[in-house]
Amino acid sequence: MRSVVPDYLTEALGDVESDTSGEPAGYIPELAVADPERLGAVFATVDGQVYGAGDIDTEFTIQSISKPFTYAMALADRGFDPVLAKVGVEPSGEAFNQISLEGDTGRPYNPMINAGAITAHSLAGSAQPTPAERVERVVHGLSAFAGRRLTIDEAVCASELEHAHRNLAIAHMLRSHNILTEDPRTVVDGYTRQCSVLVTTRDLAVMAATLANRGINPVSGERVIPEPVVRQVLSVMFTCGMYDAAGDWATQVGIPAKSGVAGGLIGALPGQIGIATFSPRLDPHGNSVRGVSLFERFSSDMGLHVMEVPAAARAVVRSNHVVGRGPDAIRVLQLQGGINFAAAERIVREAVDTAPAEAEVALDLTMVYSIDDVGRRMLLEVVRRLTLDGHEVYLVDPEAIMPDPEPGNGGRITVVGDIEQVVHSRIR
Ligand code: DON
Repeated sequence: MRSVVPDYLTEALGDVESDTSGEPAGYIPELAVADPERLGAVFATVDGQVYGAGDIDTEFTIQSISKPFTYAMALADRGFDPVLAKVGVEPSGEAFNQISLEGDTGRPYNPMINAGAITAHSLAGSAQPTPAERVERVVHGLSAFAGRRLTIDEAVCASELEHAHRNLAIAHMLRSHNILTEDPRTVVDGYTRQCSVLVTTRDLAVMAATLANRGINPVSGERVIPEPVVRQVLSVMFTCGMYDAAGDWATQVGIPAKSGVAGGLIGALPGQIGIATFSPRLDPHGNSVRGVSLFERFSSDMGLHVMEVPAAARAVVRSNHVVGRGPDAIRVLQLQGGINFAAAERIVREAVDTAPAEAEVALDLTMVYSIDDVGRRMLLEVVRRLTLDGHEVYLVDPEAIMPDPEPGNGGRITVVGDIEQVVHSRIR
């Protein structure tokens, strides 16, 4: 059987193909001459499966899609406080190249608009890298996200630099507020090189999937950035990634995203997939026209909006029963699914309401596929309280899904690999 996913992508491309509205970016002469008919879409799952349709291996420049990744590098290299001191996280509601900074601090509003992205570029690399070392840090970092060595399109870079008056104006303003502390031309040169890195739609989907996969590239297996950085980056992509169209995007598509003026568009759906599209004609916001249509369709066809309310944790307690009789009896809470806060609360309630009369209690995790940190802490607190109430507690955990099962503070637990180990003697 053929997979349904590439066929779906081919069909979606067919539906938007006839839309020739919008124009390729005109302010970078090299981009203005790009083939406007190119069209591609790729899904990369968080377990490394890549599906594509159309022009998925055509190279084009990354442009503003580099911004969230360079912001991630700045956060990872310098730490949160030094970066937040220089770049805010508020949506500006303005165009990507607006010449505006926060009135009191002189900080750019966020790292997705040019002012913030130029500043984030200046913060990439630990210590004090030379401009060339900083560019290499950025290209190396973008390459790690993509899982292959990326290169710079020198022609596009030179073409943009010839007309970079607006970015230079922004950089000079940043310098006057001491947000930039070096020659503004050098930083704009490095930032423009960053924007001129060549990628394919396939690369972009893997880069987005790396964000969706908590910072681990799902194809290469490399941890590219730490998890707390991922959350920060996805948050600003969600609120600011589509510039002055961010509100429409957040409500209609609802996927943290970033666009680029060469026609690329990425979306990272946490825990699920990275999506990338490529089509060079842009709308007045500088976002790919057909890319936006494709994302609208993907989101509604497949329920990908991040605010889509997931099924409730109602069924986390699969059964609550007693095995054996008299002093031999054991209370078994058989759990299932993923255990987050809401699911753990349901388990706590079950334990409280049941108030087991049996001396022994087993929490059976055989059918649990994940447990997050708060779920783990709450479950271990249940174990501790049961111990203090005089119970002997077993944790049935054949796949070691519970990390470090140590309740502490007077709690005691016996971990076993099979429910039979605790019940077989009681059912005779
Ligand atoms: O700074 C610029 O003008 C470009 N090199 C990048 C802008 C961009 O991609 C805006 N996004 N849609």
